[in-house]
Amino acid sequence: MAVDVLSTADGRLKTAKSRAYAAEWRESRSRGKAIEIGTSTPPDFPARPAKPELLNPRDVPKRRPGTEAGRIALLHAVAHIEFNAVDLHWDIIARFGHVPMPIGFHDDWVKCAEEESRHFEMVCDCLESMGSHYGALPAHAGMWRAAEDTADDLMGRLAVVPMVLEARGLDVTPRMIDVFRKAKSEQAVAALEVIYAEEVGHVAYGSKWFHFLCGRENADPKDVFHQMVRRYFHGALKPPFNEEKRAEAGLPPDFYWPLTEDLPPPGRSE
Ligand SMILES: [Fe+2]
Ligand SMILES: [Fe+2]
Repeated sequence: MAVDVLSTADGRLKTAKSRAYAAEWRESRSRGKAIEIGTSTPPDFPARPAKPELLNPRDVPKRRPGTEAGRIALLHAVAHIEFNAVDLHWDIIARFGHVPMPIGFHDDWVKCAEEESRHFEMVCDCLESMGSHYGALPAHAGMWRAAEDTADDLMGRLAVVPMVLEARGLDVTPRMIDVFRKAKSEQAVAALEVIYAEEVGHVAYGSKWFHFLCGRENADPKDVFHQMVRRYFHGALKPPFNEEKRAEAGLPPDFYWPLTEDLPPPGRSE
Protein backbone atom coordinates (compact mmCIF):
# COMPACT_ATOMS: atom_id res chain seq x y z
CA MET A 1 0.00 0.00 0.00
CA ALA A 2 2.75 2.42 0.99
CA VAL A 3 4.79 1.64 -2.11
CA ASP A 4 1.72 2.05 -4.31
CA VAL A 5 1.17 5.57 -2.92
CA LEU A 6 4.86 6.38 -3.40
CA SER A 7 4.75 5.09 -6.97
CA THR A 8 1.74 7.22 -7.92
CA ALA A 9 2.75 10.48 -9.62
CA ASP A 10 -0.52 12.40 -9.86
CA GLY A 11 -1.32 14.46 -6.76
CA ARG A 12 -5.07 13.89 -6.45
CA LEU A 13 -4.70 10.21 -7.35
CA LYS A 14 -1.90 9.80 -4.80
CA THR A 15 -3.97 11.37 -2.03
CA ALA A 16 -7.10 9.39 -2.97
CA LYS A 17 -5.11 6.14 -2.70
CA SER A 18 -3.50 7.32 0.50
CA ARG A 19 -6.87 8.00 2.13
CA ALA A 20 -8.38 4.74 0.88
CA TYR A 21 -5.46 2.70 2.27
CA ALA A 22 -5.57 4.58 5.57
CA ALA A 23 -9.29 3.75 5.87
CA GLU A 24 -8.53 0.11 5.08
CA TRP A 25 -5.83 -0.01 7.74
CA ARG A 26 -8.08 1.60 10.35
CA GLU A 27 -10.91 -0.76 9.51
CA SER A 28 -8.62 -3.80 9.83
CA ARG A 29 -7.42 -2.52 13.20
CA SER A 30 -10.94 -1.94 14.50
CA ARG A 31 -11.84 -5.54 13.57
CA GLY A 32 -8.82 -6.61 15.63
CA LYS A 33 -7.21 -8.16 12.55
CA ALA A 34 -4.53 -5.73 11.48
CA ILE A 35 -3.26 -6.02 7.94
CA GLU A 36 0.11 -7.75 8.13
CA ILE A 37 3.14 -5.46 8.02
CA GLY A 38 5.00 -6.87 5.06
CA THR A 39 8.30 -5.86 3.59
CA SER A 40 8.68 -4.04 0.34
CA THR A 41 11.26 -1.80 -1.26
CA PRO A 42 10.07 1.78 -1.62
CA PRO A 43 11.42 3.73 -4.61
CA ASP A 44 14.51 5.89 -3.89
CA PHE A 45 12.52 8.81 -5.29
CA PRO A 46 8.74 8.78 -5.23
CA ALA A 47 6.93 9.25 -8.55
CA ARG A 48 6.37 12.90 -9.47
CA PRO A 49 4.02 14.54 -11.97
CA ALA A 50 5.46 16.38 -15.00
CA LYS A 51 4.49 19.66 -13.32
CA PRO A 52 5.49 21.44 -11.08
CA GLU A 53 8.92 21.97 -12.50
CA LEU A 54 11.38 21.32 -9.66
CA LEU A 55 14.02 24.01 -9.21
CA ASN A 56 16.87 24.75 -6.87
CA PRO A 57 15.29 26.86 -4.07
CA ARG A 58 17.49 29.80 -5.13
CA ASP A 59 15.83 29.80 -8.55
CA VAL A 60 12.24 29.64 -7.29
CA PRO A 61 10.92 33.18 -7.85
CA LYS A 62 9.95 35.01 -4.65
CA ARG A 63 6.69 36.92 -4.66
CA ARG A 64 5.31 39.37 -2.14
CA PRO A 65 2.51 38.00 0.05
CA GLY A 66 0.74 41.38 -0.21
CA THR A 67 -0.40 40.52 -3.73
CA GLU A 68 -2.80 37.87 -5.01
CA ALA A 69 0.05 36.36 -7.07
CA GLY A 70 2.17 36.24 -3.92
CA ARG A 71 -0.55 34.48 -1.97
CA ILE A 72 -1.00 31.94 -4.76
CA ALA A 73 2.77 31.32 -4.69
CA LEU A 74 2.64 30.85 -0.92
CA LEU A 75 -0.20 28.32 -1.15
CA HIS A 76 1.56 26.58 -4.02
CA ALA A 77 4.60 26.13 -1.80
CA VAL A 78 2.37 24.73 0.97
CA ALA A 79 0.72 22.31 -1.50
CA HIS A 80 4.19 21.09 -2.50
CA ILE A 81 5.14 20.53 1.15
CA GLU A 82 1.92 18.59 1.83
CA PHE A 83 2.42 16.52 -1.32
CA ASN A 84 5.89 15.51 -0.15
CA ALA A 85 4.63 14.95 3.38
CA VAL A 86 2.16 12.31 2.15
CA ASP A 87 5.09 10.41 0.66
CA LEU A 88 7.33 10.93 3.69
CA HIS A 89 4.82 9.27 6.02
CA TRP A 90 4.24 6.28 3.72
CA ASP A 91 8.00 6.06 3.19
CA ILE A 92 8.75 5.71 6.91
CA ILE A 93 6.32 2.78 7.00
CA ALA A 94 7.74 1.04 3.92
CA ARG A 95 11.41 1.82 4.44
CA PHE A 96 11.69 0.79 8.06
CA GLY A 97 9.41 -2.26 7.93
CA HIS A 98 12.37 -4.37 9.07
CA VAL A 99 12.72 -2.46 12.38
CA PRO A 100 10.51 -4.13 14.97
CA MET A 101 8.08 -1.50 16.27
CA PRO A 102 4.80 -1.65 18.19
CA ILE A 103 1.73 -1.56 15.97
CA GLY A 104 0.88 1.93 17.21
CA PHE A 105 3.88 3.20 15.25
CA HIS A 106 2.04 2.23 12.07
CA ASP A 107 -1.28 3.63 13.31
CA ASP A 108 0.37 6.99 13.87
CA TRP A 109 2.07 7.32 10.49
CA VAL A 110 -0.94 6.05 8.59
CA LYS A 111 -3.01 8.72 10.36
CA CYS A 112 -0.43 11.38 9.47
CA ALA A 113 -0.40 10.29 5.83
CA GLU A 114 -4.18 10.50 5.75
CA GLU A 115 -4.11 14.00 7.26
CA GLU A 116 -1.41 15.20 4.83
CA SER A 117 -3.56 13.90 2.00
CA ARG A 118 -6.44 16.09 3.15
CA HIS A 119 -4.08 19.03 3.66
CA PHE A 120 -2.90 18.69 0.07
CA GLU A 121 -6.44 18.47 -1.25
CA MET A 122 -7.65 21.47 0.78
CA VAL A 123 -4.75 23.62 -0.40
CA CYS A 124 -5.33 22.48 -4.00
CA ASP A 125 -8.99 23.47 -3.64
CA CYS A 126 -7.86 26.94 -2.49
CA LEU A 127 -5.47 27.28 -5.42
CA GLU A 128 -8.17 26.21 -7.84
CA SER A 129 -10.71 28.65 -6.45
CA MET A 130 -8.06 31.38 -6.95
CA GLY A 131 -7.69 30.39 -10.61
CA SER A 132 -4.45 28.42 -10.17
CA HIS A 133 -3.54 24.80 -9.45
CA TYR A 134 -0.74 22.63 -8.10
CA GLY A 135 1.80 22.45 -10.90
CA ALA A 136 1.16 25.97 -12.21
CA LEU A 137 4.37 27.30 -10.61
CA PRO A 138 7.85 25.89 -10.12
CA ALA A 139 8.57 24.24 -6.77
CA HIS A 140 11.44 23.39 -4.44
CA ALA A 141 13.59 20.47 -5.69
CA GLY A 142 15.16 19.59 -2.34
CA MET A 143 12.11 18.17 -0.59
CA TRP A 144 13.25 14.56 -0.70
CA ARG A 145 16.75 15.30 0.57
CA ALA A 146 15.89 14.55 4.20
CA ALA A 147 14.41 11.20 3.22
CA GLU A 148 17.48 10.25 1.20
CA ASP A 149 19.87 11.33 3.93
CA THR A 150 18.07 9.26 6.56
CA ALA A 151 17.12 6.25 4.43
CA ASP A 152 19.16 3.91 6.67
CA ASP A 153 18.49 5.46 10.03
CA LEU A 154 15.06 5.50 11.64
CA MET A 155 16.20 7.67 14.56
CA GLY A 156 17.70 10.14 12.10
CA ARG A 157 14.49 10.13 10.07
CA LEU A 158 12.38 10.88 13.15
CA ALA A 159 14.75 13.61 14.30
CA VAL A 160 14.93 15.39 10.95
CA VAL A 161 11.48 14.94 9.42
CA PRO A 162 8.85 15.32 12.15
CA MET A 163 11.02 16.92 14.85
CA VAL A 164 12.84 19.48 12.68
CA LEU A 165 10.95 19.99 9.42
CA GLU A 166 7.38 19.53 10.62
CA ALA A 167 8.17 21.47 13.81
CA ARG A 168 9.34 24.33 11.57
CA GLY A 169 5.82 24.34 10.13
CA LEU A 170 4.48 25.14 13.60
CA ASP A 171 6.79 28.19 13.72
CA VAL A 172 5.74 29.67 10.38
CA THR A 173 2.05 28.77 9.99
CA PRO A 174 0.57 31.46 12.30
CA ARG A 175 2.15 34.21 10.17
CA MET A 176 0.78 32.59 7.05
CA ILE A 177 -2.70 32.47 8.57
CA ASP A 178 -2.39 36.23 9.24
CA VAL A 179 -1.52 36.90 5.60
CA PHE A 180 -4.71 35.19 4.41
CA ARG A 181 -6.83 36.67 7.17
CA LYS A 182 -5.75 40.15 6.10
CA ALA A 183 -6.63 39.26 2.52
CA LYS A 184 -10.06 38.00 3.72
CA SER A 185 -9.34 34.66 2.13
CA GLU A 186 -11.53 32.54 4.38
CA GLN A 187 -11.04 29.27 2.55
CA ALA A 188 -7.25 29.52 2.92
CA VAL A 189 -7.53 30.55 6.59
CA ALA A 190 -9.74 27.52 7.29
CA ALA A 191 -7.36 25.15 5.49
CA LEU A 192 -4.28 26.52 7.25
CA GLU A 193 -5.98 26.30 10.64
CA VAL A 194 -6.67 22.59 10.11
CA ILE A 195 -3.07 22.10 9.02
CA TYR A 196 -1.76 24.03 12.03
CA ALA A 197 -3.84 22.00 14.49
CA GLU A 198 -3.01 18.61 12.98
CA GLU A 199 0.70 19.22 12.49
CA VAL A 200 1.15 19.40 16.28
CA GLY A 201 0.19 15.74 16.30
CA HIS A 202 2.74 14.84 13.64
CA VAL A 203 5.57 16.44 15.59
CA ALA A 204 4.29 14.69 18.73
CA TYR A 205 4.36 11.28 17.04
CA GLY A 206 7.91 11.98 15.94
CA SER A 207 8.93 12.88 19.47
CA LYS A 208 7.08 9.90 20.93
CA TRP A 209 8.76 7.28 18.72
CA PHE A 210 12.13 9.00 18.92
CA HIS A 211 11.95 8.79 22.71
CA PHE A 212 10.78 5.20 22.45
CA LEU A 213 13.83 4.21 20.37
CA CYS A 214 16.22 6.09 22.66
CA GLY A 215 14.67 4.37 25.66
CA ARG A 216 15.08 0.99 24.01
CA GLU A 217 18.79 1.72 23.60
CA ASN A 218 19.13 3.37 26.98
CA ALA A 219 20.39 6.56 25.31
CA ASP A 220 19.79 10.17 26.32
CA PRO A 221 17.17 11.53 23.86
CA LYS A 222 18.45 15.10 23.93
CA ASP A 223 22.04 14.09 23.14
CA VAL A 224 20.96 11.69 20.42
CA PHE A 225 18.69 14.36 18.91
CA HIS A 226 21.58 16.81 18.71
CA GLN A 227 23.81 14.16 17.13
CA MET A 228 21.20 13.14 14.57
CA VAL A 229 20.30 16.67 13.51
CA ARG A 230 23.97 17.62 13.19
CA ARG A 231 24.63 14.51 11.13
CA TYR A 232 21.66 14.63 8.79
CA PHE A 233 20.27 18.16 8.67
CA HIS A 234 22.08 20.72 6.61
CA GLY A 235 22.23 24.07 8.36
CA ALA A 236 21.20 25.45 11.72
CA LEU A 237 17.73 25.73 13.18
CA LYS A 238 16.39 29.24 12.81
CA PRO A 239 14.47 31.08 15.51
CA PRO A 240 11.90 32.42 16.25
CA PHE A 241 10.40 29.18 17.52
CA ASN A 242 6.80 28.51 18.44
CA GLU A 243 7.84 27.34 21.89
CA GLU A 244 4.30 26.76 23.09
CA LYS A 245 3.23 24.47 20.23
CA ARG A 246 6.60 22.75 20.26
CA ALA A 247 6.11 22.02 23.96
CA GLU A 248 2.64 20.69 23.25
CA ALA A 249 4.24 18.35 20.70
CA GLY A 250 6.80 17.04 23.20
CA LEU A 251 9.72 19.12 21.97
CA PRO A 252 11.39 20.96 24.89
CA PRO A 253 13.59 24.05 24.32
CA ASP A 254 16.85 22.27 25.22
CA PHE A 255 16.31 20.04 22.17
CA TYR A 256 16.31 22.81 19.58
CA TRP A 257 17.94 25.94 21.03
CA PRO A 258 21.49 24.48 21.13
CA LEU A 259 21.17 23.71 17.40
CA THR A 260 20.77 27.39 16.52
CA GLU A 261 24.43 27.84 17.45
CA ASP A 262 25.45 25.99 14.32
CA LEU A 263 24.53 29.01 12.18
CA PRO A 264 27.37 29.88 9.81
CA PRO A 265 29.09 33.22 10.55
CA PRO A 266 27.40 36.21 8.85
CA GLY A 267 28.38 36.74 5.23
CA ARG A 268 28.99 33.06 4.56
CA SER A 269 26.27 30.91 3.09
CA GLU A 270 25.99 27.29 4.25
FE1 LIG B 1 0.47 18.69 6.56
FE1 LIG C 1 2.66 16.82 8.83
